[in-house]
Amino acid sequence: MCGIVGVLGNHEAAPLLVEALKRLEYRGYDSAGIATVNAGRLDRRRAVGKLVNLSDMLVHQPLAGKSGIGHTRWATHGAATVTNAHPHRAGPVAVVHNGIIENFRELREELAAAGYVQESETDTETIALLAQLHMDRGATPVEAARQTLHRLQGAFALCFLFDGQDDLMIAARKGSPLAIGHGKGEMFVGSDAIALAPLTDRITYLEEGDWAILTRQGAEIFDAHDRRANRAETRIQIEATRIEKAGFKHFMAKEIAEQPVVIADALKHYIGTDGTSLNLPPEVDFATVDRITMVACGTASYACHVAKYWFEQIAGLPAEIDIASEFRYREPPLSPTSWALFVSQSGETADTLAALRYAKDHVAKTVSVVNVPTSSIARESDLSLPILAGVEVGVASTKAFTCQLTVLALLALKAAVDRGRLDAAGLATHLSALRNLPGLMNHALSLSQAIADIAEELAEAQDILFLGRGAMYPMALEGALKLKEISYIHAEGYASGELKHGPIALIDARVPVIVMAPRDALFEKTVSNMQEVMARHGKVLLISDAQGVAEAGSGTWATLTLPEAPPAFAPILYAVPAQLLAYHTAIAKGTDVDQPRNLAKSVTVE
Ligand code: F6R
Repeated sequence: MCGIVGVLGNHEAAPLLVEALKRLEYRGYDSAGIATVNAGRLDRRRAVGKLVNLSDMLVHQPLAGKSGIGHTRWATHGAATVTNAHPHRAGPVAVVHNGIIENFRELREELAAAGYVQESETDTETIALLAQLHMDRGATPVEAARQTLHRLQGAFALCFLFDGQDDLMIAARKGSPLAIGHGKGEMFVGSDAIALAPLTDRITYLEEGDWAILTRQGAEIFDAHDRRANRAETRIQIEATRIEKAGFKHFMAKEIAEQPVVIADALKHYIGTDGTSLNLPPEVDFATVDRITMVACGTASYACHVAKYWFEQIAGLPAEIDIASEFRYREPPLSPTSWALFVSQSGETADTLAALRYAKDHVAKTVSVVNVPTSSIARESDLSLPILAGVEVGVASTKAFTCQLTVLALLALKAAVDRGRLDAAGLATHLSALRNLPGLMNHALSLSQAIADIAEELAEAQDILFLGRGAMYPMALEGALKLKEISYIHAEGYASGELKHGPIALIDARVPVIVMAPRDALFEKTVSNMQEVMARHGKVLLISDAQGVAEAGSGTWATLTLPEAPPAFAPILYAVPAQLLAYHTAIAKGTDVDQPRNLAKSVTVE
């Protein structure tokens, strides 16, 4: 994780660095810092906590200079303290780092033996000290950086700045993404292109093992073997206004509210203008595919879990799911006639990217379903389908989740058509159901105040359970994840039928149990499990449609009535109350909704 940025500019660097860091704060907010070179002199400022603390510090202790580097940290090695904050400095070298240096202990001992002792607990200071050692032994800054890079094992994106050099920066990438931005007589570096959007739209992505020497005149790029490398410059289109709350109190609230619009956009993109046919790229042809494996992390993995039901039930296509951190190391046997699907909002999640790289040699096609079309996962998969959710800033994923579900639903329908399980009329019926969803979601959003009232009581709970059956089971997992990540209340999701195999021991009058149960074919079964909870004085919140609430609402603590959803795609609608419950509970508890503790938006370490 962590965000890094670098500027070799013609204007004061500090405000540009802070602005770019603001756009990278989703990568971590444990501390922030910048270093600049002013009249040849290297200096830095660092502050614990959010970027605003660094901005405040810069008001009283400004940092001049037109070249600089900056960092926003998600702590890996060492607590969130000023000493552990980046940039790390050793003599003439300052460095910012995203990733983990796996051999840093060995390097640290070697450096200590040579008299170079580090102050911080970080793996990053080791890099700075190693470069200092090389410079002390006579290496030029470029040579010192090059030799240092060859000693590092692990994953990193790095940017070096040197005392006495206000027209030089070294950038390097291995395992963590890094983009170089080209300006007019200015050069930039950023963890992603979004960070650089206000500065330039001309971007070169470094490839694995690349490192680059930057001056204001341009970048010389080298590969892992120090050979000159040509990397294409691309123009990217990113709205510069991404960090607007548009009148909402939180990004999460805005992003929840945007769902009807972004889902309608995604549907418009992937459904033909007649409204009855699919408009997916021609390579999306499941005719000869015998199995799909879907891999992702966190919320994105729950989207895959829901989609498993769709691929199996609608398309009759065997579908496996796995979380990427497990998949990447268990070396699963994959059929060469299967496809592997990777779902990721950021497109940079380290475990998902590693899983994709593993699958590339084992399956017929790798397909990614991503929100950031310029991301590593999008670029490295054989085919990438954007979910078109727009920039998601809130750390808790909301609109990206429902857009992932939407695109996965369309893929499942395409699989059903290609496998002869769905004729034109059947497809048209499903597409019409999907096109109704934005309207139904608007209705669900109108329950916000009722949900806020329920959340006042939920906020008092220590533990909360979510139950669901069929495709509502992964929704129970997602509801619980959303709640715990922003309200810090312990919550678990269970398949309703599994409750009596253990978790029912947790039930008493203090444990709210949220049951997500549209009036579908599995409703009666779920209601039986709900009765088992109520018989043990469990406090049930039933989320269902009018018929479901009428049939089973009596005796519950509370009910929420959603509009009737198309049975197959109800999970997309039921995401809304789950998100609003988490949001309002967090508000009632007074937690930091958009930037919950210990989390980061893009998880680029394993
Ligand atoms: C939860 C959440 C995370 C992400 C996970 C994967 O609200 O956002 O669980 O879903 O870290 O991230 P991406 O989708 O960027 O690969």
